[in-house]
Amino acid sequence: MHSFIAAVLTVVLGICLTNAMPQSVKHLEACGDAFYIKTKVAWPAGNSGVVVFFQPQNGVNGSLSISLQNSTTTGNALDPIYEASSSSSPMVGVSGHLKLNSSAILTIPILGSIRTIRDFTEGPSLLRPSIQDAITLAEIEGGKVSLSRLWLDNETTTTLSFAPASQNGSVKVRDRRVTFEAGTYSFNASFNYPQLEQLSPQEVFNQHSQGLVSQYPDQAQSLSFLSYSNKLLAGAWRFLTYFGRDSMITMLLMEPVLSTGEGGAFEAGIAAVLERLNKTDGSAAHEETIGDYATFLNLQENITSTAPQYDYKMIDTDYFLPVLLVDYFVKNAVGRSRASEFLSKKATENPANYELTYRQLALLNAEKIINVSAPFAVSGGQTKENLIHLKEDEIIGEWRDSTYGLGGGRIPYNVNAALVPAGLRAIGALAEAGFFPEHPEWNQTAHNYAQVWEDNSLHFFEVNVPQSEARSLVENYVDSNSFPFASQSQDINSNVSFYGLALDGNNNQTLVRVMNTDDCFRLFFLNTTNDRQLSSFLSQTADHILQPYPVGLSTDVGLLVANPAYGGDPVYSTNFTNSAYHGTVVWSWQLAMMAAGLERQLGRCSVQSAPEFCLDSELHGKVLSAYNHLWDLIDANSANLSGEVWSWVYEDGKFSPTPLGALPPPPGTNPTESDIRQLWSLAFLAVKRNQSLK
Ligand SMILES: *[C@@H]1O[C@H](CO)[C@@H](O)[C@H](O)[C@H]1NC(C)=O
Ligand SMILES: *[C@@H]1O[C@H](CO)[C@@H](O)[C@H](O)[C@H]1NC(C)=O
Ligand SMILES: *[C@@H]1O[C@H](CO)[C@@H](O)[C@H](O)[C@H]1NC(C)=O
Ligand SMILES: *[C@@H]1O[C@H](CO)[C@@H](O)[C@H](O)[C@H]1NC(C)=O
Ligand SMILES: *[C@@H]1O[C@H](CO)[C@@H](O)[C@H](O)[C@H]1NC(C)=O
Ligand SMILES: *[C@@H]1O[C@H](CO)[C@@H](O)[C@H](O)[C@H]1NC(C)=O
Ligand SMILES: *[C@@H]1O[C@H](CO)[C@@H](O)[C@H](O)[C@H]1NC(C)=O
Ligand SMILES: *[C@@H]1O[C@H](CO)[C@@H](O)[C@H](O)[C@H]1NC(C)=O
Ligand SMILES: *[C@@H]1O[C@H](CO)[C@@H](O)[C@H](O)[C@H]1NC(C)=O
Ligand SMILES: *[C@@H]1O[C@H](CO)[C@@H](O)[C@H](O)[C@H]1NC(C)=O
Ligand SMILES: *[C@@H]1O[C@H](CO)[C@@H](O)[C@H](O)[C@H]1NC(C)=O
Ligand SMILES: *[C@@H]1O[C@H](CO)[C@@H](O)[C@H](O)[C@H]1NC(C)=O
Repeated sequence: MHSFIAAVLTVVLGICLTNAMPQSVKHLEACGDAFYIKTKVAWPAGNSGVVVFFQPQNGVNGSLSISLQNSTTTGNALDPIYEASSSSSPMVGVSGHLKLNSSAILTIPILGSIRTIRDFTEGPSLLRPSIQDAITLAEIEGGKVSLSRLWLDNETTTTLSFAPASQNGSVKVRDRRVTFEAGTYSFNASFNYPQLEQLSPQEVFNQHSQGLVSQYPDQAQSLSFLSYSNKLLAGAWRFLTYFGRDSMITMLLMEPVLSTGEGGAFEAGIAAVLERLNKTDGSAAHEETIGDYATFLNLQENITSTAPQYDYKMIDTDYFLPVLLVDYFVKNAVGRSRASEFLSKKATENPANYELTYRQLALLNAEKIINVSAPFAVSGGQTKENLIHLKEDEIIGEWRDSTYGLGGGRIPYNVNAALVPAGLRAIGALAEAGFFPEHPEWNQTAHNYAQVWEDNSLHFFEVNVPQSEARSLVENYVDSNSFPFASQSQDINSNVSFYGLALDGNNNQTLVRVMNTDDCFRLFFLNTTNDRQLSSFLSQTADHILQPYPVGLSTDVGLLVANPAYGGDPVYSTNFTNSAYHGTVVWSWQLAMMAAGLERQLGRCSVQSAPEFCLDSELHGKVLSAYNHLWDLIDANSANLSGEVWSWVYEDGKFSPTPLGALPPPPGTNPTESDIRQLWSLAFLAVKRNQSLK
């Protein structure tokens, strides 16, 4: 019980809601849009929450400010609510005090699922009558007002109540709206849904890493808040539930510090993926829909059920699973000892998988990978058609999963040049360790396939721009967008090469010519053996890290995940902007994977039969410089690292960090409010600068 309450507080302390990266409560004020001000509470159980929008009664934009006050009795900004019940789940939540500096109207309340809230704040401002009309407003004893809603399951109720806490305060219900006089109000926000079992900060880390709890209390709390006995959650507040890619990338980056063994973070995360697999085709699930929104979606199909739903639209998620299984069950001593017991467990989460063991589910995933990768791997099969494509009716399929993320591309670079071969290598290693008695031959075939993919998929994505053309493209990019910064084109002293984001992009582009950070996947996931290819690959990666944007990817705020300067076609700079979710912005975990990936490649220089680049002192030196330059950028941005993504403004001759949601969104999209805490952004608890590479 105690740990759960801590969990609620962590998120709510981070409630900043809109537009603020820092977690401190005082930023609540900074969260208001010009007119409406929203206040939000989010809970992991059932992926649920509450949002309420306030508007000043005088109708004057900007005339209302709202702030969270500390309790006069406990001194806390927020206090826990916990009321046991003999007949249902306990009522849990938080209470606190809000100060409204002028009279206000609560215009829109949304009570129930985070997904319902997101449909309103990020989608086309959707409000659903079946959900909104079920809200009961009432003036209750002691001058209080309560808003409550019975979920579609007919069992759970979310309640938000306000009571005046200052002399002038008065709260009333008028015409189905709640009105407030200026003043301070206490509030309670609570719900009664079955709670998850949280892993404490001590339980999330392994024995060697317990020191992190006191060394980095904020990140350790955040990690604990996102870690439960049966799954890891992607982020707060927008993605407060299972996400396959996020969970697995986090585990792979944080393997050295996460707890292992029964009840540990590692097994929770692996089990969560296996439980949610699609048993028909072996696909790993991207996202789950649970709680009120699941009941809602079922009702849309005329099914009365609270059963969860799973989304399998991603094409990258499958490949992380075998890599994770090798990491834990082959390379980790505790994992090795746990393999047989763990894998013989039966699924209990997704009703469709109840009869299957974890081992059977892992096998289904491996079979899928072998099947879809075979056409490219067989003799003469190395054609573009045989590369892995997005699903037919989807415009997204990997981590750059926004409208503009892949530039319309259908065949993503990271999946084909890194994840498929990495998944195959891992299946080979699992087969060698005896994991797939049904397929002993995979100990060879999977490795053979992997070799073909490693050596032959990269070149499809290669972009080469002659020096003079590169200079004029970069100059034109700056001029035509009237950017206030210099093109730095004089830094271009040779031809520019990079690997584009995807094949088959918008406007009939055969290749999406956007420079990017996805090189990190190949660096982190593969130890490729074609020396010529590896050397030139590392050389261009290092160049992009060292060179300033828009020539390369480096800015004061970190490495940009995309740079469209070499695209030529205006389609690129129009769509890859600093306000697009996957535009010229910085993602924390990409910095972590790039750092960890470079470290792995540099680490190969200290083993026997080191790759050739290790002996090329100029190249090796450049890769080392890139590694250290990247760490300088990471260190300089430590205040932002736990957040999901951030953007920049250019002022006083430099790039300064700014929340993505603070910038006007690209056409046809809504502002993206970045999560203030993101699971994979906490990877820096494990990924540290290797001082021996200085
Ligand atoms: C307040 O400002 C918003 C834009 O920030 C605008 O859409 C809205 O119409 C304004 N409302 C009033 C009453 O001026
Ligand atoms: C409330 O705060 C807003 C924003 O700071 C300010 O513009 C307004 O004047 C304040 N109203 C009162 C009555 O103090
Ligand atoms: C609440 O208390 C904290 C210290 O516990 C303090 O830093 C903060 O400023 C207080 N907030 C307000 C609104 O008074
Ligand atoms: C909830 O109750 C309503 C009204 O009795 C009923 O129509 C509906 O099917 C129930 N929903 C569930 C999920 O049981
Ligand atoms: C919040 O809950 C506490 C404990 O039940 C109660 O004393 C208080 O009046 C409630 N406040 C509001 C605003 O409902
Ligand atoms: C509360 O009322 C008093 C006396 O009428 C007034 O001086 C004070 O400004 C009011 N406070 C607020 C927050 O409106
Ligand atoms: C599972 O995979 C099968 C085969 O690809 C597909 O038809 C089915 O829709 C998938 N299940 C879900 C829930 O998407
Ligand atoms: C659900 O039932 C309604 C009313 O009978 C019908 O119009 C609708 O097409 C049904 N939806 C589905 C997905 O079957
Ligand atoms: C693969 O497994 C087979 C059957 O167990 C064994 O004979 C063979 O030596 C193995 N090959 C490799 C490369 O491990
Ligand atoms: C793309 O190619 C198709 C078929 O060749 C053509 O009809 C269309 O106009 C082209 N679109 C653009 C933007 O060039
Ligand atoms: C931008 O992206 C959208 C959505 O993918 C696409 O339809 C459009 O053609 C692209 N180009 C421009 C110039 O906006
Ligand atoms: C690649 O080699 C490095 C250095 O030996 C090692 O740390 C890393 O785990 C290896 N990667 C893979 C995918 O085997």
